[in-house]
Amino acid sequence: MNEETDSRVLTDVWDRQTRVLHWINAILVITLALLMVGRDGMEFLGAGKSLLTPIKRLHAYIGYVFVFTFALRVWWGFAGNTYARWSDIIPYRKERWQAIARNLTWYLSGFKGRPASATGHDPLASVFYVVLFLTLLSQAATGLVLSGAELKLYPAFFFMQGMSDAARHALGSSIKEVHEFGFWLIAGFLAAHLCGLVVHEIKEKTGLLSSMIHGKKYFPKG
Ligand code: HEM
Repeated sequence: MNEETDSRVLTDVWDRQTRVLHWINAILVITLALLMVGRDGMEFLGAGKSLLTPIKRLHAYIGYVFVFTFALRVWWGFAGNTYARWSDIIPYRKERWQAIARNLTWYLSGFKGRPASATGHDPLASVFYVVLFLTLLSQAATGLVLSGAELKLYPAFFFMQGMSDAARHALGSSIKEVHEFGFWLIAGFLAAHLCGLVVHEIKEKTGLLSSMIHGKKYFPKG
């Protein structure tokens, strides 16, 4: 549905499911990250296992909720509206790469002219979204393995029952490296995502920030 204002057209973009899952997943990922950063801080300050282990356990339980809501978002990429779909995120068409190049040029020229306009996902940002989704997929998989190896939680622990404690902890230690690297990628993405939102909001005025709340974006008439 399009609504006309004096100089701009208000267009429906993000469906309700995309918006709800966006905020649930954002809150869960930030909570997961903050819990473990806080836990590291407490460990540094000398907190004991009686405090550190429940935080790790809470992180894992919230992680299981995230695995579920993340899976819902992956599924919604096949079932949602045009702008929720993987076809609007994964840059597999030539025109999309041309739009990415135009946006890159716009950034490098110090925001001269206008970037390539997109109703749904910003073409350049979508490259980062692909990396983010792959990283989150890796966080979910490594998180499940860590929960099995370090906390004996199912389903991963089911496959580790025959392993010695030493072997499980060795597996946990190497998987932890991948999981921690994922954390740094997510932290970098979050910083870039917030900067990109502010730049596009100021330069394009499509109401990008509020669009993830009410689902609509403004576009110039014509
Ligand atoms: C999606 C965002 C996530 C972020 C940003 C994140 C972040 C972290 C960080 C920074 C650590 C500490 C790593 C280290 O000490 O080297 C950690 C550990 C851990 N994570 Fe996650 N995590 C995420 C998802 C998950 C999920 C989905 C699960 C479970 C399904 C999970 C389960 C665990 C467990 C069990 C540990 C403890 C490993 C240990 O110290 O023994 N994480 N996570």
